[in-house]
Amino acid sequence: MVIRILLISGLVAVASAAVKLQEMYSWNVLDWNYPDQYSKQQALQTGGLIPQNALPVGIERWRNKLFVSVPRWQPGIPATLNYIPLDAPYEPSPKLTPYPSFKGNELGNCESGLTTVYRVKADKCDRLWVLDVGTYGYDPNVTNVCPYSLNVYDLNTDQRIRRYVFRPEDIVSTTFIANIALDEGQTCDDTFAYFSDELGYGLIAYSWEQNKSWRFSHSYFMPDPLVGDFNIAGLNFQWGAEGIFGITTSPMGADGFRTLYFSPLSSYTEFAVSTRILRDESKVTGSYRDFKVVGSRGRDTHTTAKVMDSTGVQLYSLIDQNAIGCWNSAFTLNPQNTAVADKDDVGLVFPSDVKIDEERNVWVISDRMPVFLESELNYGDINFRIYVAPLDKLIEGTVCEPQVPKTFPNFAPQTPLYNPRLETISQIPPQIFLPSTSQRGSKTSFSTLPSQNVIPKVSNSLIFSKQPSQPYFISSSQSGIANKNPWWLKDYQL
Ligand SMILES: *[C@@H]1O[C@H](CO)[C@@H](O)[C@H](O)[C@H]1NC(C)=O
Ligand SMILES: *[C@@H]1O[C@H](CO)[C@@H](O)[C@H](O)[C@H]1NC(C)=O
Repeated sequence: MVIRILLISGLVAVASAAVKLQEMYSWNVLDWNYPDQYSKQQALQTGGLIPQNALPVGIERWRNKLFVSVPRWQPGIPATLNYIPLDAPYEPSPKLTPYPSFKGNELGNCESGLTTVYRVKADKCDRLWVLDVGTYGYDPNVTNVCPYSLNVYDLNTDQRIRRYVFRPEDIVSTTFIANIALDEGQTCDDTFAYFSDELGYGLIAYSWEQNKSWRFSHSYFMPDPLVGDFNIAGLNFQWGAEGIFGITTSPMGADGFRTLYFSPLSSYTEFAVSTRILRDESKVTGSYRDFKVVGSRGRDTHTTAKVMDSTGVQLYSLIDQNAIGCWNSAFTLNPQNTAVADKDDVGLVFPSDVKIDEERNVWVISDRMPVFLESELNYGDINFRIYVAPLDKLIEGTVCEPQVPKTFPNFAPQTPLYNPRLETISQIPPQIFLPSTSQRGSKTSFSTLPSQNVIPKVSNSLIFSKQPSQPYFISSSQSGIANKNPWWLKDYQL
């Protein structure tokens, strides 16, 4: 243990010199905006709002909204899909606002409500793609109150423009889906969504145009049985059944197709398949060899979320290392060609989601999820954080920086196609506040800003003070309090 702590403090010393993500929001406990104080009091009294039961897991930025999803693992979650208005006066711990409304988040209202949402994704056509898994609670108390349904919202009108219920053939008895990747073609109609079935070991493709879905199976979706042991925040646990989880699409290749990259959660290996296969329902069978092994990220690289930018740089959460990793897909994937882009042994404990917005800002949410699930969070402490950094800043000085590519894997993008629509899409909201940690409490407003300047620089003193000297570990008196199992371990006991 002593050796381990020394090792970790060694890493901290290295990491603190390279801290690039800026803390934008943080919370001890989440809270919600209600239309008035009376309805909030009512919610607190009737158990409609139990703040300490809420854990944020997913984020997405679209113009002046930062979406935050909160699964209904326990009672008292008033809304599973929420946002923070980025153009409102800055608050370090903003209350969440339900999206599109409280009514649109009604638990168990399968037709017009959302029950439990994990990850969400906005597209270039101003649509928000939301998968409602329809579950309430977690193992052993999971209830499937609604079927799996894809809900797509028009972000300009805040209206739901589509609801699609997955076919019975798309899911199996163990199905658990958290992640979405989008595959945007030349028109808004030409959009496909992919969903990773972590415990059913499947990949579901959905065509917007056809309003239809189909399911792929492959042994690459399964966990690596040799790396099912996890150590996070001083907790040791086994998530050995966790299959395909983090997924992302690459930029469009010269052949007009993207590549879908994926990794099982219990694995250090990266896999890929061309969307030429996934888009074609007839390829559901007979495509074994179209799925490729990309390479290995190396030891302690379990990941829950990944995203790739328009130049082919992939960012991924590194849950064992309290870090965000990167890899430039122009190069072979091996440990030498990857880097830790940023790390923080207190603030980045369980980086749950990572996204890149239209202005090339990277957004990260960390939530100490294993402590919430396996033990108990201390609500006197800061538990949830949202960070932001310009992508180029985050990967500066690492092997992930864009450079002249030497070799391409044959399934990887050759030259990202120029997308003329991007010009009109990345419109910047007329007014947006993205204050840095150095200006907490004081508002910084920008009007029609160039994209690089969205995130103001923080001073060096603040960069260093962000990294506390002691890594966060759950105390021994805290661990072992609860014997709650993660919600996804339906058949698999710890
Ligand atoms: C499951 O839910 C029931 C009813 O709400 C409750 O009585 C029971 O204690 C719960 N079990 C666990 C293990 O949480
Ligand atoms: C898409 O399919 C769903 C079935 O889940 C159906 O209810 C809906 O009306 C369809 N939408 C369109 C636009 O065809």
